Amino acid sequence: MKCSTRSCLSLSCKPVITLACGTTLQADGPTLLHSLSPIGHYSECRNGYCGACKTTKLSGDVKYLKTPMAFLKPGEILPCCCQATTNIKLDLHLSGSASSAATSGEIIDEPS
Ligand code: FES
Repeated sequence: MKCSTRSCLSLSCKPVITLACGTTLQADGPTLLHSLSPIGHYSECRNGYCGACKTTKLSGDVKYLKTPMAFLKPGEILPCCCQATTNIKLDLHLSGSASSAATSGEIIDEPS
């Protein structure tokens, strides 16, 4: 995976996911949805059919592991069936309940 951070020298560094609220998470796991689990991102089918996980991508790139079947507008992605290939920014906000539930350490930084 190509690193999009100029100062990073690691060959195995993983993309960073930045939420619109400023919270950052490490992209890890088989899909982007796995990376969003600390914030409790809503999903249903987890297979690209229902569109429940639909999210607006503000910047960065993703690759789909399989062709999604749900309808997407320009800029929208389905985290359940894609992976981040660069650092990305998503139009998501960390809710209070998700913040207190996030104990896995996957959140890199959370604005105060
Ligand atoms: S959870 Fe159904 S499309 Fe992502």
